[in-house]
Amino acid sequence: MCGIVGCVGLPQSRRFVIAGLQTLDYRGYDSAGVAFGNGDIKIFKEAGSVDFLDSTIPPSVEGRVAIGHTRWATHGKPNKNNSHPHLSSGKQFAIVHNGVIDNYLELRSRLLEDGVSFSTDTDTEVIVNLIEFHFRKTGDVLKAIASTMREIEGSYAVGLIHLGEDRIYVMKNASPLLMGVGKDFHLLASDASPMIEYTNLFVELDDKEYGYIEKEGYRVFDFDGNPVEKQRVTKEAELLRHTLNGYDHYMMKEIEEIEPVIRRMTNYYCLDEGFSFDPELISKLRESDHIIFLGCGTSYHASLVGGRYFEEMGIPTASYIASEWAFHPMFPGKKPFVILISQSGETADLIHCLKEVKERGFETLIITNTKGSTLERACTYSLLLHAGVEVSVASTKAYVAQVVALLFLVAAVFDLEYVKKDLDKACRVIAHIHKRYKDNVKEIAEAIKNEGDIFYLGRGYDYYMSLEASLKLKEISYIHSEAIAGGELKHGPIALIEEGTPVVVFVTDKLTAASMRGNIKEVESRGAKVYVISTSELSKNGDAIVVEDYPSYLSSIIISSIAFYLAYYVACLKGYNVDKPRNLAKSVTVE
Ligand code: F6R
Repeated sequence: MCGIVGCVGLPQSRRFVIAGLQTLDYRGYDSAGVAFGNGDIKIFKEAGSVDFLDSTIPPSVEGRVAIGHTRWATHGKPNKNNSHPHLSSGKQFAIVHNGVIDNYLELRSRLLEDGVSFSTDTDTEVIVNLIEFHFRKTGDVLKAIASTMREIEGSYAVGLIHLGEDRIYVMKNASPLLMGVGKDFHLLASDASPMIEYTNLFVELDDKEYGYIEKEGYRVFDFDGNPVEKQRVTKEAELLRHTLNGYDHYMMKEIEEIEPVIRRMTNYYCLDEGFSFDPELISKLRESDHIIFLGCGTSYHASLVGGRYFEEMGIPTASYIASEWAFHPMFPGKKPFVILISQSGETADLIHCLKEVKERGFETLIITNTKGSTLERACTYSLLLHAGVEVSVASTKAYVAQVVALLFLVAAVFDLEYVKKDLDKACRVIAHIHKRYKDNVKEIAEAIKNEGDIFYLGRGYDYYMSLEASLKLKEISYIHSEAIAGGELKHGPIALIEEGTPVVVFVTDKLTAASMRGNIKEVESRGAKVYVISTSELSKNGDAIVVEDYPSYLSSIIISSIAFYLAYYVACLKGYNVDKPRNLAKSVTVE
């Protein structure tokens, strides 16, 4: 789970690779490195951030070719030695790699027997040494790459420099890799965002393809060595730019983009009459007797809301955590339809699930924010969120966009025209929350910031909101938090409530409000400090935040701004890096 970049022919190669790695550090940020080639190969790498790496590189360094890497450690500690790029033992090749080589131990032992030496704990060093091993026999880099690809098992997006050549060789399987096409220069990166300032023309590599970029052009070959004519695609610059626009953190900027994102999605998906989805997809959904949702983390939480939307219209659904389902696939019903949800479109657990679904011949829809991602290309249908790039590791606007996408989908399947008007109302309520409620949320954040355990309570839609609110708080503030379905309290968790335990409660659903008020009494009488977030008609004196009324099925779309602000402010008050919480990465490409 790492990010890679590369360029050939750019006069300011250093600027490109450093800025590119900064853009990609959502994919991992525990160490970084670059290699410059000017006939020779010079490597700079450090544990820590890309900024720190940059400060260690002498200002005059440039390369006719350059590759870079930002790392989320899988094999080997995140130290300088294990950072990429890695040199082959004969120092002929330098490599950057995103992915995991499953059979690296076996290959490493074989290479050791052949006299190859290793200096890191990484699986990547096996790839570069295997390429060098084959190159020694044939003297042809492309042949050496093809032979290597036949031996390695696992995922890889690779950029490779060969001593003395002004080319970057590439190879790809199950990790994303794009080439950027320019006049007198060519680029590569894990996604388009580092390249968008230079070009809007891209070539997306498919699995098991390899090739190279050089100043004037590029070549791509399939697994059997046949040349492949790749189609060029263009990408919209506006949706790919990473800029803070005056905000202190991407997370805050992205929370405040929620309302414009919903409006943009409405423009994409709503027609004057009906919705603009692929009619074939809508018929498949209408024909299906069961919808299976698969997602991880926040995306799984979005699937719970989507599942409820479909169930309320009469289609049974089942939402599964992808990493669980992958090892125990279930296909309820006679005609199930599978919907995968992933903002990145690269999550390894979901890729595993997709393999299981495909083996059984079922069709799939991916709901994703990332056009051209592995899942977007591999699923039968895709529904794009158009939320713009989400930089902060904690997902905010993409979560809301996922729920909105699911809502539009249900509306299209069941001709629910009223949804458009309701969402317009939701946008107004969200705008109001963004304008007026930050101070109220900050007060709660102040009160809970030093707590060790926090509980979130809700029922129905409010329970789904609790799950997401709790995940967001724990991942960026490192406070242990737990979401509890209101009715489950008395079946165990209430034992944890004692004098002063903070409990955040969502009361936005008419159906369950009375029961929730009962639960509030239960925890209060055991000493809990309760913060209630309610809607006007369900509010009571003493509620911490009261939001104007809206149809309760929109709760996850509207109330999430409050939940996200709360996590944000607690993390800020604790002095943590909000956008890059420890141990996490934006794109989780390992199982
Ligand atoms: C939490 C968060 C994660 C992701 C999860 C799945 O804020 O972002 O829980 O939702 O890693 O990622 P995607 O949606 O890219 O499949």
